[in-house]
Amino acid sequence: MGPIGLVNGEIIDLGDKIVEMEDRGYQFGDGVYEVTRVYNGRCFCLRQHMDRLYRSLRELSIPATYTFEELAEFHDRLIEKSGLTTAAVYLQITRGVAPRAHGFPDKVTPRLTMSIRPNRSTPELTEAGAKGVFVPDLRWLRCDIKSINLLGNMLAKQQAKAAGAFEGVQVRDGAVTEGSSSNFFIVRDGILWTHPVNNLILRGITRTVLIDELAPRLGLTVVEKTFDVPFAKKADEAFVCGTNSEIVPLVTMDADKIGEGRPGPVTLKLTEALLQKIEAECGGR
Ligand code: PDD
Repeated sequence: MGPIGLVNGEIIDLGDKIVEMEDRGYQFGDGVYEVTRVYNGRCFCLRQHMDRLYRSLRELSIPATYTFEELAEFHDRLIEKSGLTTAAVYLQITRGVAPRAHGFPDKVTPRLTMSIRPNRSTPELTEAGAKGVFVPDLRWLRCDIKSINLLGNMLAKQQAKAAGAFEGVQVRDGAVTEGSSSNFFIVRDGILWTHPVNNLILRGITRTVLIDELAPRLGLTVVEKTFDVPFAKKADEAFVCGTNSEIVPLVTMDADKIGEGRPGPVTLKLTEALLQKIEAECGGR
């Protein structure tokens, strides 16, 4: 079977042409999304992802037309039909199809599309660490909404890719915000630092798990304050975290080594704790 997807509750072949020209997601990027990891055939932190989805919908006044139970069932159905046990589910809701006009249409039904793809953890990156680069943050002022408008994020990632780096860590008005598709942390003298939650970053689910559960369990203090590039470059350790990347140590930033230029103890402890949580929640990883 080829890759599959789901549209408004129906399983489809991912190659099926289903996007209508006047879907507002297609024409305006008028929609929101979530990516949820599947380990051992089970979704990790699905409730948290769907809660954030509902928040993104609310912030854009897109009606929520599916209950949590329905969305959970769609995830389960995609997992079962695909036969994939280690995967990522992509879910997108657009405002729907209406004649093109910038203002919201009066009557429109949101459209849900989903897909599932194989995915895996990357122990080789945990072990060796990766390269990061600082790039300008070109995005809009509502980065807290998980909108499908990802031009700024794409440009940041592309700049990183062109530099042979794993992630582009964005900088706005001198402050380090977040990765192109991840949150950014540094460790200085055993203390974790990361950008505070506001309109300039996405409140990552992985970030929240780290701050609310893993760091306290490991006795680590987290400071949620802005900091600049020189401060970050003087860190002992740096890493990014997210649904796709889990935790990836960044051992160089631009041309500079971070700490000793290899994954540090705090990053590795957090990674182990995250994998344990995944194992506990999903019964495997
Ligand atoms: N990206 N910040 C940004 C800009 C992101 O795009 C993401 C995730 C994160 C981390 O959030 P979480 O821990 O909830 O995945 C932070 C997803 C995975 C993506 O675009 O594919």
